[in-house]
Amino acid sequence: MEAKSMTRRQFASGSAKAALAVGAIPSIAHRVAAQNPDKIRLGLVGCGGRGTGAAMDAILSAPNVELVAMADLFPDKIEASLGKLRAAQKGAARDFAAQYGSMKIDWDRADAVRVTPERCFIGFDAYRKILETDADIIILGGPPGFRPMHIRAALDAGKHVFAEKPVAVDPVGARSVLESSEMAKKKGLGLMGGTQLRFSQPYNAIIGRIHDGKIGEVVAAECYWWHDYFVRWHAEERKAGWSDMEYQVRCWPHFVWLSGDHIVENLVHNIDVMNWAMGGAPKTAVALGGHANWEDWPVRGNVYDHFFVEYEYPNGAKGYASSRQIKNCAHRVGEKVMGTKGAADPFRQITGENAYDYDGPFDNPRFIQWGRFIESIRNGNPMNYGAQVAEASMTAILGRMSAYTGRAINYDWALHQSKLDLSPAQFDFGPLPVAPLAVPGKTPLV
Ligand SMILES: NC(=O)c1ccc[n+]([C@@H]2O[C@H](COP(=O)([O-])OP(=O)(O)OC[C@H]3O[C@@H](n4cnc5c(N)ncnc54)[C@H](O)[C@@H]3O)[C@@H](O)[C@H]2O)c1
Repeated sequence: MEAKSMTRRQFASGSAKAALAVGAIPSIAHRVAAQNPDKIRLGLVGCGGRGTGAAMDAILSAPNVELVAMADLFPDKIEASLGKLRAAQKGAARDFAAQYGSMKIDWDRADAVRVTPERCFIGFDAYRKILETDADIIILGGPPGFRPMHIRAALDAGKHVFAEKPVAVDPVGARSVLESSEMAKKKGLGLMGGTQLRFSQPYNAIIGRIHDGKIGEVVAAECYWWHDYFVRWHAEERKAGWSDMEYQVRCWPHFVWLSGDHIVENLVHNIDVMNWAMGGAPKTAVALGGHANWEDWPVRGNVYDHFFVEYEYPNGAKGYASSRQIKNCAHRVGEKVMGTKGAADPFRQITGENAYDYDGPFDNPRFIQWGRFIESIRNGNPMNYGAQVAEASMTAILGRMSAYTGRAINYDWALHQSKLDLSPAQFDFGPLPVAPLAVPGKTPLV
């Protein structure tokens, strides 16, 4: 199906109607809440798995938060998202309980979905139309290739932004997000990124100790994301009538212009932890990678299945980042930081002279993040993590650029001089040839 618009009739059919009906019944709690001027209204752009989850996290993390508008390329995605939110309203939200650790959740908030058909927007300009609603915070949960454009438009319209990670797939996009971040500061708007480990209790305890010198001088760090789920992640079978664009967007992880490849899409979390421990972005990267196994990949896109990057930080410390997505291979995901007096696993412990085992709570960092973000907006001092998440994305992009070209690359050059812009010439549901797989030593550095 090629989706360009969603009529009121289409929206009100089937599961969307049922979902909406449940969402539209005002509870006593929300009649009371409606009189509270402190209400925060959410608009969701990109109503897939994480966007839907982020909306639920936001609603559950603070009182008087409602989802009021939705935007997506496809009507079926909005219907499915409303279906999940409806299930949560009926009590399935308690299934999220395990994610929230010891935190106290007011589950009655889960009914704060106030989306009407007039506030559901479809198509490539849906992200603009939602900005005309009274939403206060726009959640950006679409594929990362659209993120810089969506962030800029939302801030231009005076909205606070929660942008899922990564926030860019190329240096042109990363530059744009850094500019947007400055713009947000000037306008007094919040900009939060989906690198939620920054709000994790154990990570804060241990990285705080690293910054306090408990492992001595940091000499090296490593991070890894070795798994196989990316192989099948959003890998849909192509349906008759789907244009190249529709196929690529529905299977977005497999196309570099949309996902940035798995080093940018997934490993960005762990690269961000490495940057955090090191106190900023690296100065150089040299990397290798390739695609060893296509047999298990249902979608033949243009991403690699393995990467290894050696970063060098300004103090000479090395950061080793590796990412693999191949079936039937060893799995591991995490980080390590090595210093002159010890070593740290930022998720749990420090070994060496100042040994330490984290024994505090492990509450869901996304939930902590949303609670603080909303509180900061209500206090009139909105949090801005734009530069942090743009730097993490750019560090991952730098590693990919080095692996694709085979060249050692300087971070400052890539961020400020590179002209690499992966976005297609136009956004419409038509033909879109797939760029060939990068070949180190042949793919040019742009
Ligand atoms: N922070 C985390 O731990 C975490 C976890 C999972 C996913 N994510 C991030 O969330 C993002 C989405 O991942 P997902 O698994 O939810 O993907 P998804 O495919 O389930 O959702 C993406 C949605 O965006 C829609 N979309 C595509 N292009 C759009 C456009 N131009 N305008 C509006 N909507 C558009 C799609 O139709 C789809 O509904 C990714 O950036 C991913 O990295 C973050």
